[in-house]
Amino acid sequence: MNQPISTETIYNAQATNWLRSEKVLLSDFTARPRVLEALGEITDQDILDFGCGEGYVSRMLLEAGAKSIFGIDSSAEMISQAQTMAKELKLFNASYTEGNAVTFNQFPKTRFDKAIAVFLFNYLTIEEMTQVMSKVRSLLIPGGTFVFTVPHPCLPFMREETPPFYFEHGDKSYLDGINQTFEGKIWRRDGIPVSVRCVHKTFAHYFEALTQAGFNSMPEVKELAVTDKHLAFDPEFFSPLKGYPLHVLFKVKAND
Ligand SMILES: C[S@@+](CC[C@H](N)C(=O)[O-])C[C@H]1O[C@@H](n2cnc3c(N)ncnc32)[C@H](O)[C@@H]1O
Repeated sequence: MNQPISTETIYNAQATNWLRSEKVLLSDFTARPRVLEALGEITDQDILDFGCGEGYVSRMLLEAGAKSIFGIDSSAEMISQAQTMAKELKLFNASYTEGNAVTFNQFPKTRFDKAIAVFLFNYLTIEEMTQVMSKVRSLLIPGGTFVFTVPHPCLPFMREETPPFYFEHGDKSYLDGINQTFEGKIWRRDGIPVSVRCVHKTFAHYFEALTQAGFNSMPEVKELAVTDKHLAFDPEFFSPLKGYPLHVLFKVKAND
């Protein structure tokens, strides 16, 4: 039987299509600005970026005033792009390391003010996600904030496999697809698709994992979609997604 392609292979092969210095991908419009908004005040804060990719979000955070960024990602090519960009832009307070978020333990600090995981958990099983959340919990200062985004768990079952964003659920239903990998694609505005995948989880799994990881307050949850502003800006690109829940953003505090 053929082995599925590893996530590292997928990202090493398409790192140049992810590299960007302005909004290019659908989710650069529909999700990433919302992460910045959810983090709130970040001036002079140390931020941990799990699954940082080529560093787009962390560069946004530095521009918004963060003191330092530590990013880890399992794709050597994505990390190499992040390091090259940081060097070119003289971002001396950005540090990027290749590593698996599930097993990584070489953190440069014992405590961070905030942590993000922007579309990382859709590459991990429920058990792996819970391990990463526990690590995040232990690395946050008391009162620190964790913001993460994932594909909306209902989206694969609501949309056909058409641009500009889809996941294939095959013959799996919402409940029997749990921990199964759905391959998908998300488009850039210039018409180039990039491959993504989603290890399917239900809404309940995110809440359960946060509780098991020791986050004991209710998370804020936002179901992200295209807005009227997106539709007015580029109706051709965004209108196929009008009315669909695309991503979910969770924000949770590490209480004492
Ligand atoms: C959809 S991309 C998002 C990248 C970045 N967070 C952003 O928003 O631009 C997902 C990233 O997660 C990384 N990734 C997947 N599984 C990982 C793991 N187990 N440990 C660390 N990074 C992982 C991939 O290499 C990829 O760079």
